[in-house]
Amino acid sequence: MGSIPIGATMITPIHWGEHALATTLDQMLAQHEQVFLLLDENVLEFCYPKLLAICPALKKAEVIEIESGEAQKNIDIATQLWEMLTQHQATRKSLWINLGGGVVSDLGGFVAATYKRGIDFVQIPTTLLAQVDASVGGKQAIDFLDYKNQIGVFAMPKAVFIHADFLDTLPDNHLLAGFMEMVKHALILDKAYWQDLQHLQIDTVADLLPLIQRSVEIKQSVVAQDPTELGLRKCLNFGHTFGHALETLLMHSENPLLHGEAVGLGMILETKLSAHLGFLPQAEATAIIAYLEKRLAHLLPILEKIDIQALLPLLLQDKKNTNTEQISFVLLKGIGSFILDISLDANAIHAYSPQA
Ligand SMILES: NC(=O)c1ccc[n+]([C@@H]2O[C@H](COP(=O)([O-])OP(=O)(O)OC[C@H]3O[C@@H](n4cnc5c(N)ncnc54)[C@H](O)[C@@H]3O)[C@@H](O)[C@H]2O)c1
Repeated sequence: MGSIPIGATMITPIHWGEHALATTLDQMLAQHEQVFLLLDENVLEFCYPKLLAICPALKKAEVIEIESGEAQKNIDIATQLWEMLTQHQATRKSLWINLGGGVVSDLGGFVAATYKRGIDFVQIPTTLLAQVDASVGGKQAIDFLDYKNQIGVFAMPKAVFIHADFLDTLPDNHLLAGFMEMVKHALILDKAYWQDLQHLQIDTVADLLPLIQRSVEIKQSVVAQDPTELGLRKCLNFGHTFGHALETLLMHSENPLLHGEAVGLGMILETKLSAHLGFLPQAEATAIIAYLEKRLAHLLPILEKIDIQALLPLLLQDKKNTNTEQISFVLLKGIGSFILDISLDANAIHAYSPQA
């Protein structure tokens, strides 16, 4: 019997562009009798017709529409989807396709990965955030009791199909939100990428494609080395400790934050914290903060008003924490270089003022 080398892992194949959808996806459809396709109303309007024109065999799929928005990523909707699969007598040979943003890919990935202990699923991301982040890496989750991604699994999709043309109809605020995850990739791992981002306009999708590829390569390489986040993969959480807390705090407000927007604001706070604790040279912190504040100028009033007391209970719930008293951060040592597992207690966070 052969053995699996330590560290070996399955890496999801990423297929790029229209041709892959017309050929590779078409072949996958031919191999599965029953196909389910999850999407939301915006994706049904803007992306599904494009996809059907490229891959007509998709007509055989049972299309399941959910409402758009983070509020759908919950156990009730997951239960309805499991019920629907059961009623259709879906088997482990069925294929599940997620066409949409990170909400569809997380929810649909979770449902597919748990139904009958897992059926094959494919991600076709249609937002920038889902293309560079959510659809790649095998984390599938739903929110629970108002905590983000509280219930979930690690399960790799069979394939991810990335077609940048889907982004043509994406609203600007969602483009910016996805872009923040690309900035994160540069800040933690790739100084040359950071330099390339300095003068980039993000309104031209064609200009974004090489950078999408670069971000996906970075994410794939991290995931390949640490698929279940025992060490290195934690670096992808830069900006997410404060980011998730802000996102949760404002979830039911009049102006909830998009995930990527929250991560952008979280990166400002965690860059400041990195410098405050002496890990990051002040000059680099100043450059990073100036860049992020320019891109996120319309959201800065949120940081000015933030009450650290209100954030603390949410920070203490963060999944990276290893005990209930301390909050674990990924911080920067420099542009393109990070430090993991910096644990601070509530007093230290309290003493740190985000407005400073
Ligand atoms: N699993 C992971 O590793 C991971 C990583 C990052 C984020 N996430 C999750 O991703 C989610 C956020 O994803 P998102 O930002 O893609 O949000 P989203 O899925 O809510 O999509 C954003 C909006 O864009 C619409 N839309 C999607 N594609 C479109 C298109 N091409 N044209 C026009 N409109 C379109 C959607 O209907 C929705 O209204 C969060 O739940 C977050 O927790 C998961």
